Amino acid sequence: MREAHQDAVARVSEERLWRRLMEMAQIGAIPGNGVNRAALSKEDIAARKVLIGWARERNFEVGVDAIGNLFVRRPGQDAAAAPVITGSHMDSQPRGGRFDGIFGVLAGLEALQAMDEAGVKTRRPIELVAWTNEEGGRFQPCTMGSAVYTGARKLEDFLEVRDNEGVALRDALWQTLTATPGLARRPVNAPAAAYIEAHIEQGPLLENAGKTIGVVTGIQGLRWFNIEVSGRTDHAGTTPLALRQDALRSSIQIIHALHELTRDATDTVRFTVGRMLVTPNSPNSVASHVLFSVDVRHPDPATIAGLGKAVEPAARKAAGPCAITVTSTLHDDPCVFDPNVVDAVERAANALKLPSMRLPSGASHDAMYLARVCPTGMIFVPCEKGVSHNEAENAKPADLAAGARVLTAALLELANK
Ligand code: GLV
Ligand code: MN
Ligand code: MN
Repeated sequence: MREAHQDAVARVSEERLWRRLMEMAQIGAIPGNGVNRAALSKEDIAARKVLIGWARERNFEVGVDAIGNLFVRRPGQDAAAAPVITGSHMDSQPRGGRFDGIFGVLAGLEALQAMDEAGVKTRRPIELVAWTNEEGGRFQPCTMGSAVYTGARKLEDFLEVRDNEGVALRDALWQTLTATPGLARRPVNAPAAAYIEAHIEQGPLLENAGKTIGVVTGIQGLRWFNIEVSGRTDHAGTTPLALRQDALRSSIQIIHALHELTRDATDTVRFTVGRMLVTPNSPNSVASHVLFSVDVRHPDPATIAGLGKAVEPAARKAAGPCAITVTSTLHDDPCVFDPNVVDAVERAANALKLPSMRLPSGASHDAMYLARVCPTGMIFVPCEKGVSHNEAENAKPADLAAGARVLTAALLELANK
């Protein structure tokens, strides 16, 4: 590694990174050390303002695009060159932890600040991005910001999506954009030379192997569906069971059938129903309408394709007397990261003498979409017992700083190509 690059890496501050992580963890803090910072909520707006403040302290230009992806730019010597981008997301699950997403954003800020303090110049600009609505906890599907940025989906596809309270994404987005005025307006689909995202692993492999750095090789594929089951509401005390069209009972039968469909002795298939809205949701009325989510994942392209196709027929067969509508909300095939970026991450870990291993990602990330438009990779750091999407999510300050150092070194390599 060049001397100037070594200096930048050495300026990555474990203390500052941890302090910022803990400050962000106050925004939307919930009992049990967790965070609830839904996309485009007032907590998301507050987190955006803090990030913008930190970026402006360093005189970095801050910009935003039409879906609210927030960009912080450190110029390069060649202003016309496409930037190398790093980042992740600031929204969380409803009962999320202090590191999922926000670590990648603050590690990126740490990298930019360390480069600035070292006075290191790069040929390409380097941009930090906080993608809008990665989690999909409030508005479905997940990874919306990166889907729009990469042209995989259109902004218009998402504007009428509503949260559980009926708020349209269009309105929440408008509120977010007007609450953070004065930002440079960026086009969506701006070109990127490369993308690297730092993230906690969200699984136990690094911790079990005693490794500090995960060199991520790709992300497994997934399918999301909304299944709406329509029946008829009736009196719970008087209506004979044989005459009912009970939407909740049919939903349970469908979910059972999908469990059978996805049964896998190797425990590789992932199947989750995590969201269910019941109408009228009263103990003594038969449910007339149920909407529930389906999340299926697998690393093998043919397997996930086969499972994805089988969901609707299996659901129809099990629906009993109710009518169903099955809507696909997300369709992502497994992705394999660019070998040059994977190698750059591994080289950085080796140069810093950090124990590393290659591994695939079970969780989905914005990097999945970026991989469609530019050379992409990810850096994982261990999290305690692999726990994530849970208030108890935890990571060690030294591991997080190690991840930020690897990120800094890898960004410097890619930004000088
Ligand atoms: C992202 O949090 C995912 O669902 O994998
Ligand atoms: Mn995440
Ligand atoms: Mn997550």
